[in-house]
Amino acid sequence: MTMQLCANVGPFSRLLKDEYIKYFCHTCERRAPEISRGYYARVMGVKHLLQQFIQMTGGACQIISLGAGYDTLYWRLCDERTTITRFVEVDFSDVTSKKCYVIKKRKQLLQKINSEDDDILLSRTDLHSSIYHLVAADLRNLKEFDSKLVESQIDKSLPTLFIAECVLVYMETNLSAQLLQWISDNFKTSFFINYEQVNMADTFGTVMLRNLMGRGCELLGVDACRSLETQKQRFLLTGWNGAESLEMMQVYKRLPQADIQRIQKLEFMDDVEVISQLFQHYAITWAFKDAANIGLQGIAV
Ligand SMILES: C[S@@+](CC[C@H](N)C(=O)[O-])C[C@H]1O[C@@H](n2cnc3c(N)ncnc32)[C@H](O)[C@@H]1O
Repeated sequence: MTMQLCANVGPFSRLLKDEYIKYFCHTCERRAPEISRGYYARVMGVKHLLQQFIQMTGGACQIISLGAGYDTLYWRLCDERTTITRFVEVDFSDVTSKKCYVIKKRKQLLQKINSEDDDILLSRTDLHSSIYHLVAADLRNLKEFDSKLVESQIDKSLPTLFIAECVLVYMETNLSAQLLQWISDNFKTSFFINYEQVNMADTFGTVMLRNLMGRGCELLGVDACRSLETQKQRFLLTGWNGAESLEMMQVYKRLPQADIQRIQKLEFMDDVEVISQLFQHYAITWAFKDAANIGLQGIAV
C-alpha cells in the first residue's frame, strides 16, 4: 500500500475551511484520517512560516508559488485581509490554462483579483492583474521562468517568498539545484518553503517509491529526499545562507494543543504506527538569504 501526503485534500478535510477549492476540484471522496491529519499539519506549518515572513516585511513583499497547481492560497489570504505587493503562481501550461478558465468563469474567484481601477490581462494560459499573476512556465527552463516573472512585474530587490509543495521532487535533482541557485543569485532577500518527501532511502520510503513508480509516477528528484540533511544541503550548496528541515511528525507536535485535540477527535485513528510512519516521510524545509538583514534567520516552524 502506498499513501501520499501530496494530494490536495481541500474540501474533504473537516479540519480546514477552504471556500475556493470546490471550484477547482470536484471529487467528494473522503480521505483516510492520516491523510487529513497530514494535510492539516502541512497547511498549518507552511502558513506559520508564511505569516512570519509577511509580518516581518510589513506586507511589502512578493510570493511566488512554484508548481502551484490548483492551490487557493491567494484567495484565502485575501479573505484574511492579508495584503502583499505581488502574488505569482507558476505551473505547466496545461495546468495554468485550466486554472485561467475556472477563474474566468467564477465571479467568486475573479472578484478577489479584480479591483475597480485594475485591468485584467488574460490569455489562454496566463493571467495578469495588479497583484495576482498566473503564468505558464517550465521551471527547468530558467529563461522562460525569468521572462514570465518580468511579465508579472516581479521586483527582484523586494523580499520574496518562494513556496514549492510537492514540486521539486518531480524535477531531476541537478535541474532543481539549477533553479535554487538561480533564485539565490537573483533574489538577495528571499525565503524558500519546500514541502515534500524525506527519508526515502529507508524500507518504507523504498516501498513507497516502488509503488508510485508502478502507478507511473516517477519521482526524478528523489535523491534530494534521502534525509533531512540532503534536504538542507540542496539549499546550502546553492547559495542560500541557512536552511532547516523538520519531519512532519515534529511539525504536527508543534501545533497548538487545542488543534491537536480537535484533529484527534475529528480524524480518529487507533493505529498510531501508520501515522508516525507516514509523517516520518514528509518534511517542511525552509531556507533564507537575507541581504537586507530583515531577520529572516529568525523564522521557524
Ligand atoms: C503534486 S502537484 C502539487 C501542486 C500544489 N503545489 C499542491 O501542493 O497542491 C505538482 C505540481 O507541480 C507542477 N510541476 C512539476 N514540474 C514542474 C515544472 N518543471 N515546471 C512547472 N511546474 C511543474 C505540476 O504540473 C503540478 O501542478
